[in-house]
Amino acid sequence: MQQKLNQLEQQALAELEQVTSQENLQAWKVKYLGRSAKLADITKNLKDVPREERPQVGRRANEVKQALEGSYQKRLENLQDAAMIQNLEKDRLDVTLPGRPVQPGRLHPTTRTHREIYAIWAEMGFQMYRSREVESDDYNFTYMNMPPHHPARDMWDTFYTKQEGVILRTHTSPGQMRVMRERAPEPIRVIVPGMCYRYEQISARSEIQFNQIEGLAVGEKITFSDLKGTLNSFARRFFHQGVRTRFRANHFPFTEPSAEMDVECFVCGGEGCSVCKGTGWLEILGCGMVHPTVLKYGGYDPEKYSGFAFGMGPERITMLKYRIPDIRYFWANDLRFLQQF
Ligand code: DAH
Repeated sequence: MQQKLNQLEQQALAELEQVTSQENLQAWKVKYLGRSAKLADITKNLKDVPREERPQVGRRANEVKQALEGSYQKRLENLQDAAMIQNLEKDRLDVTLPGRPVQPGRLHPTTRTHREIYAIWAEMGFQMYRSREVESDDYNFTYMNMPPHHPARDMWDTFYTKQEGVILRTHTSPGQMRVMRERAPEPIRVIVPGMCYRYEQISARSEIQFNQIEGLAVGEKITFSDLKGTLNSFARRFFHQGVRTRFRANHFPFTEPSAEMDVECFVCGGEGCSVCKGTGWLEILGCGMVHPTVLKYGGYDPEKYSGFAFGMGPERITMLKYRIPDIRYFWANDLRFLQQF
């Protein structure tokens, strides 16, 4: 019986040496340590062993069992380690490889110009006022001193809607009226930025959709020199400290007097070139003293209050600044254009 146990032990350990997978290991376990294994039989049938041999056989059977269990456990750990190492090899990560470059996004050139302009006006004490893009005919025209059928309305080609009296704003000027009616008779310093729409033939110079930034200051004793000083100050901050400007008389229905402001051409420095068409000057905005009729519509007594207003086109200014030849690039979403900014 002793011999039988020795043999069993040897055979089991030899076979264990050959086991290379966890499935085979389980099979081995069933075969040698399972309930119907030979070793289990011997232990179960210990009563058939002659009395005097019984303690020794029992002890030996236990030893063999412990030896097999210990070897099994070791083998299991070995196989698990090997499996883990194999997995690590297979899913190897080379942390020294360079990463994939991430293309950073960038701001649209119009957005950049807007932000620069906002910051300058904020510094000068102007608040931001947002006004609607879908406007009434009255706000866009009538209250801006252009009664129905007035020929001045033809300055703007308008998008009408199916609803009588509802249009897309052709300029940000109706924003002036919205602020005045909200704030009267308080003093006002605001800019009104946003999208405007015009029913025009799209070309290099005109789009049906573009931005404007309106400005409005209303209060007591505001004069034309306030207008000039404020706009000059803006130009110096936006272009450069020494920039020269000039005001040319013009006409807008909602201001009196009205003007356009030019800055000296920053391409040729005033010498005359193709960008300024030989004049040495670039027009950047329209402006003027708020017309008494507009003040009245806004709820301000023109005998007591006065104000100035201006309107500029950030796309146009961006085109001048970066010498962009065609306004259609702004909405074409062509990366070759956008990535230059
Ligand atoms: N609304 C004018 C336009 O679209 C621009 C303008 C001119 C606005 C003079 C003003 C202003 O506030 O005073 O052409």
